[in-house]
Amino acid sequence: MSSYRIALLPGDGIGPEVTAEAVKILGVVGRKFGHDFTYSEATVGGAAIDAYGAALRPQDLAMCKRQHAVLFGAVGGPQWDDPRAKVRPEQAILGLRKGLRLFANIRPVKMFGFLAGNTTLKRAVVKDVDMIILRELTGGIYFGKPQRRWADSRGRKAVDTLRYSEQEIARIVRLAFELARGRRKHVTSVDKANVLDSSRLWREVATEVAAGYPDVTLRHLLVDAAAMHLIRQPAEFDVVVTENLFGDILTDEASMLGGSMGMLPSASLGRRRRDGTGLGLYEPIHGTAPDIAGSGKANPAAAILSAALLLRHSLGLEEEAAAVERAVEKVLRAGHRPPDIALPGKRPLKTHRLGDRIAAAIY
Ligand code: NAD
Ligand code: IPM
Ligand code: MN
Repeated sequence: MSSYRIALLPGDGIGPEVTAEAVKILGVVGRKFGHDFTYSEATVGGAAIDAYGAALRPQDLAMCKRQHAVLFGAVGGPQWDDPRAKVRPEQAILGLRKGLRLFANIRPVKMFGFLAGNTTLKRAVVKDVDMIILRELTGGIYFGKPQRRWADSRGRKAVDTLRYSEQEIARIVRLAFELARGRRKHVTSVDKANVLDSSRLWREVATEVAAGYPDVTLRHLLVDAAAMHLIRQPAEFDVVVTENLFGDILTDEASMLGGSMGMLPSASLGRRRRDGTGLGLYEPIHGTAPDIAGSGKANPAAAILSAALLLRHSLGLEEEAAAVERAVEKVLRAGHRPPDIALPGKRPLKTHRLGDRIAAAIY
């Protein structure tokens, strides 16, 4: 029996509700495939602010560094949203990404064909969507210094800084090309090179990296146009690579191409070992959904699919990951659905009931 250590950080709102289902699924995978998963749980986000006065304690970050992988729910909520607060729940996820050096955020956007009728877009536009958005995660305007707010005699001011080094750009763009090699061999690099110096550097470095991958095509798109093309012809995209803030915005937009926010998982990765595995953090792209928290309406699919990515990318368990993905697809295809993707006239399942169904479908 192989043994794996997982940090469990459920967070706030629907975070604990959906991560509980992911843990349920990992339990079944462990029993069927002969693995032992042990969890170290920590309180992060708003819950940690209430308990300890900080969104992420240093000892909890240190604990995460000792695990094989981190399973994360979501953090935040209106009760911690005072713009003047010194501590914010979101500092937990930002601190983990930076502290664990997880520079690459893989957000696959795949339309399960049977959900094509569930989106606000036409079926013909979304039915063949299958892309990966690769978001740079530890640089750019999220982390550049100075970042601060002050006031002088003329009023309030604030500054954020968008900074990138060529090394930061090259390593994420290289990963985009590696991923594209295993897919349809097409990379779209998204920037704002007509305005931003950091984007002109991004475009230059992306073009240099591309020279090492003659079998993969590269196209550059400006971010505003990319936002439009994503809705106009989403099936054209294969691998999209972009900086931190653009990736944040475009992936929420792209979530609508996958049927619902409740469907999209993500993997945040750092440097890999030679066998391709390494510490990673796995989380749905959605947030804490305060509007439905506690009601049993949360779709656990994104969290469960994030656990599948954990099996694949941190533990190297491809067969197990595929089994989880198949089970999710099978159950949803059969019409057992949560409210966000419910079939008309069919009663939606509560979060834990759907988790039970998916657990029972793993073989
Ligand atoms: P959100 O993703 O929480 O919710 C947006 C909408 O999608 C809501 O209507 C919600 O009900 C729905 N939704 C989200 N996940 C769902 C699911 N699993 N099943 C069904 N419906 C789902 O985004 P928001 O409302 O902008 O943010 C709420 C809070 O979450 C904020 O405090 C924000 O900072 C935080 N947030 C955290 C993370 C994270 O921890 N990684 C990510 C995004 C937002
Ligand atoms: C995400 C979220 C986070 C981000 C927030 C909660 C800090 O929106 O994971 O997409 O902006 O990266
Ligand atoms: Mn986001």
